[in-house]
Amino acid sequence: MAGAGDRSRKGDIALAPPTVKSPETVPAVEDRTYLAFMVSALVIAVGLGFAFAIVIPLAAVDAIPGASRVPWLTQAHGWAQLQGWAGLFVAGMGIRIIPRFAGRRPIGRSITLPLVTALAGSVIIRSVVQPWARGSWGDEVLVAAGAVGGLGMLGVAAVLAVTLARTRRRGNPWELFAWAGTAWWAVWAIFTAVAPIRAADNFGLTPGVLDDAMTWMVLLGAVGNFVWGVQSRSVPVFFGRKPPKARVIIAPLVLYNSGIVLVMLSLAEWAPATSARLEGAGLALAGFASLVLAPLCGSIWGQAHRLRPRARSASRFVIAGNIAGMTGGVLLLVAGIHTFAEGSIVSFHLRDAARHAFGVGLVTMLILGMAQLIAPVFAMSRAEDRGPSLPERLPFWLLIGAVVLRVGAGIVRETSDMDLLHHTIALAGTMAWLALLLFAIAVAQAIRREPQMKALLAG
Ligand code: HEM
Repeated sequence: MAGAGDRSRKGDIALAPPTVKSPETVPAVEDRTYLAFMVSALVIAVGLGFAFAIVIPLAAVDAIPGASRVPWLTQAHGWAQLQGWAGLFVAGMGIRIIPRFAGRRPIGRSITLPLVTALAGSVIIRSVVQPWARGSWGDEVLVAAGAVGGLGMLGVAAVLAVTLARTRRRGNPWELFAWAGTAWWAVWAIFTAVAPIRAADNFGLTPGVLDDAMTWMVLLGAVGNFVWGVQSRSVPVFFGRKPPKARVIIAPLVLYNSGIVLVMLSLAEWAPATSARLEGAGLALAGFASLVLAPLCGSIWGQAHRLRPRARSASRFVIAGNIAGMTGGVLLLVAGIHTFAEGSIVSFHLRDAARHAFGVGLVTMLILGMAQLIAPVFAMSRAEDRGPSLPERLPFWLLIGAVVLRVGAGIVRETSDMDLLHHTIALAGTMAWLALLLFAIAVAQAIRREPQMKALLAG
């Protein structure tokens, strides 16, 4: 094959492509549908989830209108963040990465595009309608959105389960976490369909106890397991360590997921004290296990010297995210023990702080860091030989500020001046919103530059 682009030398052995012809061979086709998940997650985060995070605290202290709708806005914020931001990101990266980890064929767009449409469509409808809808039309729209979202989640669980069942090399830590996460996606699907039906009998609000258990199940189970699993395969290597062995991971993994099982079991018809004790024990177990999983699967110190110099700054997100995850673990452990001892749901301020140490700290930090480290769209930026520019550095510091203020505000909530507290939370929301906006711009620029960069590389 001689020609202008032919770089062969005398003595080279010519191999006719494809070099491997087994029907089992996975062709190297560039699959870009993960970008649809990534872009919708960012649009929902910037347009709804993090925007509500600014509106809620300001409305709560009458700094802006909307005080009477704060409980509805809060649930809409929770679901925009969990299903729209974290869920869509995890689904998109999971559907892309798990087949590769498992040595299977990429999932086709005829499957992935309906899934992203169902997940994103349902959460957008829910977040826009729930805060403002009153009466039966709102309930009907929310029940329909719940059913569509539930189907999307079931689809994600099915795709991941089929892929995992056909994994070539079994028993790796990432696989165990992925199985656990996949099971929680299936549970999430059922609860997403059921919650709006229960909300229809409760003025459009999902009953508090159900909503609380669901948010923990999604944050720790459906999202958290993938955060630990994907990290366990790559992060220790970035930092020059060996990935953890399955036998080391199994005890914290079982404790962590048993904790989530107990939280969900607390929803059954027990006496109120038994229910609270089950929930408290569950939160404490999951919190304790997070303290072990963050340093084992991720990294909480060190230099990512195995990465290219340009990519190293993104590893700071990984360290900060895991430290925030450990902080969330301590807060959850304390709140869980307190709830268990009291036999009633207590420590709301610590639960709120823990939720945001995981949500803004572990999950959001990790999404921004891992996307820059492993998403193909950033492959070209990782190879550049210039340092990160100011707009590229800013999201990290803005998120650090947001985590400190949001978690701190949760911890001191019961003893602080309400006006100052809510303005501090709004400031945290604004910092996180700006970080996400800057990151969204970086993704848009990377998508725009991709063809140009590929042409340059091919040349
Ligand atoms: C700095 C950014 C954020 C701010 C300022 C913020 C603010 C708030 C506020 C004010 C509440 C209501 C708390 C209450 O009244 O008890 C709340 C609840 C919540 N937030 Fe955030 N939030 C942020 C980011 C996130 C993220 C990234 C996630 C998840 C990935 C998240 C998940 C939740 C959940 C699940 C709830 C409870 C919702 C419910 O009760 O149904 N938040 N947040």
